[in-house]
Amino acid sequence: MPPSRIVVVFTLFFTAGSGTTVYDTYSDFTEEDNTPQLDYKDPHWCHSPSLTNGEVTCHSPRGGAYRSTLGTRCEMSCDRGYRLLGRSSIQCLASRRWSGTAYCRMMRCHVLALIPHGRYTCTHGFMVDSRCEFTCDPGYRIEGEHTRTCQHGASWSGVQPVCSDTDPPKIKCPPSRLKVAEPGKLTARVTWDRPAATDTADKSLDVILVGQQPGTDFNEGANIIRYKVYDQARNRAACKFIVRVEVRRCPVLPPPLHGYLTCSSDGNNYGATCEYHCDGGYERRGVASRVCQFNRSWGGRATECVSMEIKSDVKTASALLDQFYEKRRLLIMSAPNISDSDYQLQNIMIQKSDCGLDLRHVTLIELLGSPPRETGRIKESLLGSEVIEGLRQVFRISRSYFSMVLLDKLGLDRERFITPMASDELFSYIDSFLLDEEERERLELHRDFCD
Ligand SMILES: *[C@@H]1O[C@H](CO)[C@@H](O)[C@H](O)[C@H]1NC(C)=O
Ligand SMILES: *[C@@H]1O[C@H](CO)[C@@H](O)[C@H](O)[C@H]1NC(C)=O
Repeated sequence: MPPSRIVVVFTLFFTAGSGTTVYDTYSDFTEEDNTPQLDYKDPHWCHSPSLTNGEVTCHSPRGGAYRSTLGTRCEMSCDRGYRLLGRSSIQCLASRRWSGTAYCRMMRCHVLALIPHGRYTCTHGFMVDSRCEFTCDPGYRIEGEHTRTCQHGASWSGVQPVCSDTDPPKIKCPPSRLKVAEPGKLTARVTWDRPAATDTADKSLDVILVGQQPGTDFNEGANIIRYKVYDQARNRAACKFIVRVEVRRCPVLPPPLHGYLTCSSDGNNYGATCEYHCDGGYERRGVASRVCQFNRSWGGRATECVSMEIKSDVKTASALLDQFYEKRRLLIMSAPNISDSDYQLQNIMIQKSDCGLDLRHVTLIELLGSPPRETGRIKESLLGSEVIEGLRQVFRISRSYFSMVLLDKLGLDRERFITPMASDELFSYIDSFLLDEEERERLELHRDFCD
């Protein structure tokens, strides 16, 4: 008998990643050798195959119950999430060993990168089927898929989401306010604190005022103030409020009869002062001025302009003239007697224009005749003979012919007439040479008064 032929095959494989080397040896015996030793019925010829985290499916020539009989072939498969390393199919050999080994190695996805302004949490770390959910920091919103899953092939589903700032900033304006205009003004100075803006994402914000600056003078009415704010991502927020300025006003003050008012500021606003002025020949009776008060009423009582009282019973011409100083102009008319034709003609013309003379603040003094039957008068009031004599001397007025002397408010002799004058001419002269600017304006306003 030839010696038994023993073929020894060394199968060697490297288990990837483990670094260990497994030598598996088996012998294939010739039919002649140890044939009786082979037992196809032994259910435990090889040891029971097992695979951690995997499944072994065996097919025995003798049926399913004989998992480890000689010749049984087993298919190795790993559970989900595991990769098979080694043989996927092994057989129970005559050497009582399996033809190979295998094991299941857990598969992992790569470590997910962190996203700016956000984070993620995973159900099972980076293992297969682990679901990672992304969330963003307050103020940021996710763009893209919220989750990524570690897929069976150890790759992540989807792409990394990003956290972007979509939250607008917040800004709150101060409350609207009402302010009363300052006394004597039509404006009010209003101030407020600049509103603070907040944003979940940004620290520094660009707050823009649209409207008038605080601390400045605001005009009457509603002034709208707006604030706008942008964050770094150009998200916008805005607010507005109203600064209302109220000008308190008194009823318009009526001017006095025979006088007028000059008012400060806007005439009848809170704090405005109105001064009373009386026309020439009229005197103020009452307060010089009134102030518009906060409660919209005028302080003090109305003032009247009353006719100037002329004392005709004075002893001297200068005492008489003093009463007219800076108040009235004088027209002194002189004639030799009451039947003088020039006088009579002038008298007719003057009487018709009494009102016009008054408008121009002119008082007429008549001097008639010669002593002892000489008369002097202002309207119905008779003057004393010393006064008449005084006037004639001061202004060199002759008793022997008709003449008129026009005196200004300072008592200066401004013009002389020796023939009767039509009232138009007389007024025209006064208007051109004696009235000041203000008097001329007021005369324009009241020109119709005499018609
Ligand atoms: C307005 O106020 C003044 C005091 O400031 C007072 O004397 C006057 O009576 C008030 N007038 C009215 C109408 O309330
Ligand atoms: C009046 O004066 C004139 C001179 O101007 C004279 O002729 C006349 O006689 C006088 N009449 C009277 C009544 O005195």
